[in-house]
Amino acid sequence: MIDAVGKPQTILLLGGASDMGLAVVEEFLSRGPARVILAARDSEDLTSATERVKAAGASEVTPVKFDAVDFASHPAVFDEIWAQGDVDLAIVAFGILGDNEQQWQDQRQAVLAAQVNYTGPVSVGVLLAEKMKRQGHGQIVVFSSVAGEMVRRSNFVYGSAKAGVDGFYRMLGEALRGTGVKVLTVRPGQARTNMTKHLDDAPLTVYKEDVARAIGKAVDNRKTLIWVHPLFQPIMLILKHLPMFVIRKLPL
Ligand SMILES: NC(=O)c1ccc[n+]([C@@H]2O[C@H](COP(=O)([O-])OP(=O)(O)OC[C@H]3O[C@@H](n4cnc5c(N)ncnc54)[C@H](OP(=O)(O)O)[C@@H]3O)[C@@H](O)[C@H]2O)c1
Repeated sequence: MIDAVGKPQTILLLGGASDMGLAVVEEFLSRGPARVILAARDSEDLTSATERVKAAGASEVTPVKFDAVDFASHPAVFDEIWAQGDVDLAIVAFGILGDNEQQWQDQRQAVLAAQVNYTGPVSVGVLLAEKMKRQGHGQIVVFSSVAGEMVRRSNFVYGSAKAGVDGFYRMLGEALRGTGVKVLTVRPGQARTNMTKHLDDAPLTVYKEDVARAIGKAVDNRKTLIWVHPLFQPIMLILKHLPMFVIRKLPL
């Protein structure tokens, strides 16, 4: 259970090598040691992720093989994780960005992006809800994006999947009211992580540590939805109500 000072005993990171997900794990480990389960595809990244989490003070690190698009395997992966005990905090952090112009003109790439960024989160969301409801407590944190709040021409393949994730998890939180399970949907703008290292900074770009701190605070305050940069909420409110002929003239 997450205790009175906001310290979880067990943290599950789905997308176990995610740069931003690991920053969130580090944020919670700064409150004290915890057991950490890193669920990821087999990769060299997982070795460095394990080292990173150990260095941050994890009492134990358990790697679990997990592929976000191998949907049929997910129930068994979750049974394996829960066989070792309850999970207090689960972070859904896997995702791919890709090249929008290639994705929307290539069926294979578009389907992969939709599966990793939408169907995978739905699959694990249902299983997290089932397991946490049964244990009677738990905090789910999911990475949505401002790209999903308003889907834009420049990244609509990724953005449309994030729009789906955002809606699914916000209403999953509603469906779980009264069960002891909480859902926090996070809408970062661009953050400096492995995913964006090839991109120039966009306006209001933040560091992954800013995202992690905002998530720690939001969990403490039992929030269900946050933007990371404080200006994004009002900006998005305006942008998403502009007509398309105006939006077309903006560098979005
Ligand atoms: N960085 C940003 O600006 C930003 C902004 C808004 C939202 N987000 C979201 O935040 C989350 C974390 O992103 P990040 O910045 O930490 O990027 P990241 O470091 O690239 O992490 C993404 C992770 O997803 C994993 N992944 C991809 N496909 C997978 C699959 N089929 N099965 C399992 N894992 C898979 C990758 O693992 P592999 O090593 O195996 O590829 C990688 O570890 C993502 O959902 C992203 O969309 C990011």
